[in-house]
Amino acid sequence: MPKPTSAAIRARLDRAAAKAMRNAHAPYSKFHVGASILLTNGKIFSGCNVENASYGMTNCAERTAIFSAVAALGPKIEIRAVAVANNHGVPCSPCGACRQVIYEFGPDATIFFQGKQGPKHMHITELLPEGFRLL
Ligand code: THU
Repeated sequence: MPKPTSAAIRARLDRAAAKAMRNAHAPYSKFHVGASILLTNGKIFSGCNVENASYGMTNCAERTAIFSAVAALGPKIEIRAVAVANNHGVPCSPCGACRQVIYEFGPDATIFFQGKQGPKHMHITELLPEGFRLL
């Protein structure tokens, strides 16, 4: 069972995601995304999407946030929650690649995102059933 995220922490996560979104490098899609992650140690990291003229090199906001946390703290991080924001206010759940990366560090994580009917949250295993694991 995932530990519930308090309304106050949730608000901090949303603010961190919205702030990171402002740093997005998205001249091709014009779709600016920010993501924040809450770790089980209480720390919050955030990231934005970073696009490239060679489109496939693009890094999503979620993976930027996770890779920043690993770069700062090492590979033992555990993700408790993820929040995603975008500059169009449209539904935006993490892409398939990001779901797998979230699962690597947060197999019990809760993901907060904009759904078709407004804000929603889902467990990572609902978004990614049968996620791949080697260890
Ligand atoms: N993108 C993210 O950063 N996160 C998501 O959850 C969905 C998509 C980015 C990738 C690309 O820069 C832009 O949004 C349009 O696909």
